Amino acid sequence: MSQAFDFSSVADRLAWSASKWEKYRGRDVIPLWVADMDFASPPSVQRALAAHVAHGNYGYMNAPRELPQQLAEDYRQRYGWTIEPQWIVWLPGLVLGLNLAVKACCAPGERVIAFSPVYPPFLHAAELQGRSPLNIPLQTSNAAGTEFAIDFAALEQAVSAADQPAARLLLLCHPHNPIGRLFSRAELDQLAAFCERHDLYVCSDEVHADLILDGHTPHLPFARVMAERSPALLQRSITLHGPGKTYNLAGLGIAWAIIPDSALRQRFRAAMQRLVPEPCGFSYTALQATLGDAEDWRQALLAQLRENRDKVSAALERMGLAHTHPQVTYLTWIDARALAGRVGNPGRWFEEHGVGLSDGTAFGSPGYLRLNFALPPVLLDEALARMQRAIDSLGSPFPALTP
Ligand SMILES: Cc1ncc(COP(=O)(O)O)c(C=O)c1O
Repeated sequence: MSQAFDFSSVADRLAWSASKWEKYRGRDVIPLWVADMDFASPPSVQRALAAHVAHGNYGYMNAPRELPQQLAEDYRQRYGWTIEPQWIVWLPGLVLGLNLAVKACCAPGERVIAFSPVYPPFLHAAELQGRSPLNIPLQTSNAAGTEFAIDFAALEQAVSAADQPAARLLLLCHPHNPIGRLFSRAELDQLAAFCERHDLYVCSDEVHADLILDGHTPHLPFARVMAERSPALLQRSITLHGPGKTYNLAGLGIAWAIIPDSALRQRFRAAMQRLVPEPCGFSYTALQATLGDAEDWRQALLAQLRENRDKVSAALERMGLAHTHPQVTYLTWIDARALAGRVGNPGRWFEEHGVGLSDGTAFGSPGYLRLNFALPPVLLDEALARMQRAIDSLGSPFPALTP
């Protein structure tokens, strides 16, 4: 019997200036945008942090000496992937890791591939680091524009273009934010073969890996797929991960890169030198607590997220808004292009009706919206009721909104 955990209390996050809520301070808007959760972190994490705070000395801190080995053991148990503790490079954030990967893998001007729609920093890392972005849109396979797959034909054509600088790195979001799907084993195999053929590095951001909602398909690290293809290919991988999404620790700033090849790891570390601080000591304490004693909490979280996801799907169905039914993460991706035809900017329009969604434009898909459903049911119900009232206010029946 798992313990009961509290996913229904509404906390005053503005008291600690939570970014998600600060955006709408003073306005009656329920924030469903940035990817963090309106749930407290696991009790084991809260207890460990409280003990650390009580210690009272907050001078410079290293990662606990046993932590890399603990993390390696966790990888073996969770994902069936054997990593060496020395492959781990600690980071105070994942977006930083994407940018460091660009610097470590590519010469100036070389091209960096990303599949859109995608979490916006994937689209900006290349240019920010003086390299060239190569955006390959995911293919939609249904009329509603809510089922996505990798467009291998477009990928092959773009990477093979003789008149362009070499494509050197793929930034993979796996599992994928915002489409909320797991790539199939066949797709991952095909992608690994593609990377081998074109001599690409891969930086795979796997921060959503522990939020697989239905639990039937375990997460498969892309580097494991690469390693199974050939040991040499593994040496071209960087895997990014962290506890921020799963255990709601984004504000503490802790992540890591797993870099099997020592030369690549050295280049990555060189790019960090004198620029990137150590993660905060509290973040190591929190991470260690998630490895020890948070599995019951995570399972309870997933049950709550499944319930919320299903509620969101049913509500969007009633509104006539095409949407994904995510296999992973707490993010639903909504095709609001037809609604945009009626109301202009749909994100702004929903804000005016009291709900703050993410605008798809930043992800490379204008007319889409992203809805974060990781919040207590009472707030989610109110947000969905506001959205329904907004749609009802348009007057005509919802089929008119379908593209
Ligand atoms: C795929 C992905 N990577 C990275 C991040 C952000 O990570 P960090 O805050 O550690 O930079 C997010 C946040 O939503 C994300 O979805």
